[in-house]
Amino acid sequence: MSTPPTDALVFFGATGDLVYKKIFPALQAMERRGRLKVPVIGVARSGWTIEQFRTRARKSIEEHGSFDAATFARLAERLRYVSGDYGQPATYAALREVLNGSLRPLHYLAIPPSVFSKVIDGLGQSGGARDARVILEKPFGRDLLSARALSVVLHTFFEEDRIFRIDHYLGKEAVQNILVFRFANTFLEPVWNRDFVESVQITMAESLGVEGRGGFYEESGAIRDVIQNHMLQIVGFLAMESPLTTSHQSIRDEQVKVFRSIRPLGSGDLVRGQFRGYREEKGVARDSKVETFAAARLHIDSARWDGVPFLIRAGKRLPTTMTEVLVTLKRPAFSTLCPGEANYVRLRLSPDVTIAIGALVKRSGQELIGEPTELKVLHRPGGDEMEAYERLLGDAMAGDGTLFASQDEVEAAWAVVQPILGTGTPVREYEPGSWGPPESARITEGVCSWNCPAADALATKEGGDQKLIEGVSRQQRT
Ligand code: BG6
Repeated sequence: MSTPPTDALVFFGATGDLVYKKIFPALQAMERRGRLKVPVIGVARSGWTIEQFRTRARKSIEEHGSFDAATFARLAERLRYVSGDYGQPATYAALREVLNGSLRPLHYLAIPPSVFSKVIDGLGQSGGARDARVILEKPFGRDLLSARALSVVLHTFFEEDRIFRIDHYLGKEAVQNILVFRFANTFLEPVWNRDFVESVQITMAESLGVEGRGGFYEESGAIRDVIQNHMLQIVGFLAMESPLTTSHQSIRDEQVKVFRSIRPLGSGDLVRGQFRGYREEKGVARDSKVETFAAARLHIDSARWDGVPFLIRAGKRLPTTMTEVLVTLKRPAFSTLCPGEANYVRLRLSPDVTIAIGALVKRSGQELIGEPTELKVLHRPGGDEMEAYERLLGDAMAGDGTLFASQDEVEAAWAVVQPILGTGTPVREYEPGSWGPPESARITEGVCSWNCPAADALATKEGGDQKLIEGVSRQQRT
């Protein structure tokens, strides 16, 4: 990339949850690698002092990163703080003063979508958008119409190549690995289609609830929070045609084609759920109909996938925190050798990265009968690997838009969920710690049952390159 790098980082919503959980730890990681060389300015309405802001940064890293006193001291020196109302010109004037002649600031909008337009306008009117870049957090708008309106506001002050739409799933190694696994392995491509694949499942389970983010969650719900973006990104990578090249544009083009070929969801394709106790959370309406769980059956109208159900579900307060893909192949001709069993590919995307292939091998003994076995590669992230936010922040500062969502992609994804936004589908209560409302079984009916990801029972080798390659009987997993 030949565009000049950013010379200051500005965070709106600097005292909020996202900055606390993800951004401060990412900044310390960048500082540690020597990749952070610019002032970091927090903007918020909280009226804090710089000392309070530094203390917050420290606590965030202690809780969500790995605190390192020497590195943190350098980071703390870079921190500045501007307090003010996002609707007041005085806030932007104060920011310009603290920016102290910066030519190419990067403005990160870590704020609720309802405030995006106000801040973009404030930046534009104050001259703060000139030669600047802007990062937005999903969801980009609340629906298709508001996503388009937001784009108009953005383009009033920022050209497209200065806009960075973060969907942090695009920055995850494991998600990018789907592309490599699919297109760099000759054995896979011939079977990755409707002739061989029976069904595709994706489960994004989280054991935590909304953790004090009730107000935010009431505005979004699971469909806007993770289905329209993270889950559809994964579907796109699993279902896309081979890109013309490995360039960002080619990959995005194929991704958009997938989204456009997904039939817009109807209420018959969806089950919404809400965990018991959600309505008692701070900031949540006592009669809230917002979903904390959603399960849906997608139909992709393409030559490759026609008739193959893509079954997706995501929820809070489920039994575990794991994201997993399961691609089940059709039964073999000699299914008598192992009745009811089929090959599959299992991709664990988090917390560890696993690629497993379910195969049948002969059970030892006199009988000619197959036994289900898994061939598995396990990779525990750790060591010096970059977290998604560190990677994406660094890319945006360098002006590299490869791993960011484009506007046409965002709009195509909204078009898929548009008919199911709102309360047209009943919301079913489920027990915290369960796999969602029992009604969600309707989504997989006639195809399979839901894959419930669980920690692999197999003991792993510690240290070394943290990779493990083994064949393990499926019974050992459960
Ligand atoms: C965020 C959602 O985008 O992704 C959260 O707003 C969710 O509700 C989070 O918990 C999950 O991200 P990760 O990286 O922990 O899988």
